[in-house]
Amino acid sequence: MTTFPGLVLGIETSCDETSAALLEGTAVLTNVVSSQAQLHKKWGGVVPEAAARAHVEAVLPVLSEALGEKRPDAVAVTNRPGLIGALSVGLTAAKSLATAWRVPLVGVHHLEGHILSPMLNGRAVPFPHLCLVVSGGHTEIVDVRAPGDYAVLGQTIDDAAGEAFDKGARVLGLGYPGGRAVQEAAKDGDPDRYPLPRALKKDPFNLSFSGLKTAVLRLAQKEGPKISVPDAAASLQAAIVDALVQKVSNALEETGHRALTLVGGVAANTSLREALAHECVLGGIEFFAPDIEFCTDNAAMIALAGSLRLAAGERADLWLDASAGAPLPGTA
Ligand code: KG4
Ligand code: ZN
Repeated sequence: MTTFPGLVLGIETSCDETSAALLEGTAVLTNVVSSQAQLHKKWGGVVPEAAARAHVEAVLPVLSEALGEKRPDAVAVTNRPGLIGALSVGLTAAKSLATAWRVPLVGVHHLEGHILSPMLNGRAVPFPHLCLVVSGGHTEIVDVRAPGDYAVLGQTIDDAAGEAFDKGARVLGLGYPGGRAVQEAAKDGDPDRYPLPRALKKDPFNLSFSGLKTAVLRLAQKEGPKISVPDAAASLQAAIVDALVQKVSNALEETGHRALTLVGGVAANTSLREALAHECVLGGIEFFAPDIEFCTDNAAMIALAGSLRLAAGERADLWLDASAGAPLPGTA
């Protein structure tokens, strides 16, 4: 895995985190993240126009804190997929800086950033391996043959795993963003108290979480005020974790890969980390998950994905565009 020789500035503004990071090789020198979670809390989800405005306010202070007195040798920026208004803020900053500094620019696919995040700070992850990407917008099981060479084996056919946490949390009155709140509430809960569906049992790799959302809603309506929130949170978390573990085991069996990585915002979930780590111990498979700081959206992972692309000779020009939806690069 060859990285770009020199300092790479990463910029990430695809959703509700404004982030800038400086990377040397795979070493994270700085990684500054300004989260808009408090802003979007009152709406119970990310409002695109509000997100774009908040990025405009945060992007220069975040950049200046990440850069300090340093001047990078290249700029990597998330240009897809994401909210167009939000992406455009990071993209404009990246183009301006690369032009002013006369250094190369590269556009990065947000999911490739997540996929490569376990390799930050010198961790040697073997190739090929299997990667479970679980975030607020994505749930994908990816065959990672090499950096830049991917095949999506399975994915959600409706809601993402993070959405299942967030929507379930809303129904249970746990607030936004829901993942961490569900995890906290579930600590004192009984995961077997309320039986919730593990959907798409017959499909080996794909997932579905919309039925679970409906089931939690029905449960809340049926139980009313006597519902045990800790037990419901634990049951919801168990349903999500069980479904993910089952599909990942199937994919490990299918590919024969001996290493698994867990990435994305939902990778911060302790119960999921423990369940997959346990599954891997049983199967003699190596398990990697990034530090929590690099699970949720961050620019360090974007700088790393950009660094590998720059080292392979990839360069973007000033026509580099933002795009809301885009397939993972290197998928057939
Ligand atoms: O990767 P990310 O920061 O943003 C996207 O690209 O979507 O992921 C955000 C998602 C949210 O749905 C949030 O509820 C979830 O990650 N999340 C968690 C935890 N921390 C964040 N889900 C479960 N358990 C957690 N501890
Ligand atoms: Zn993400």
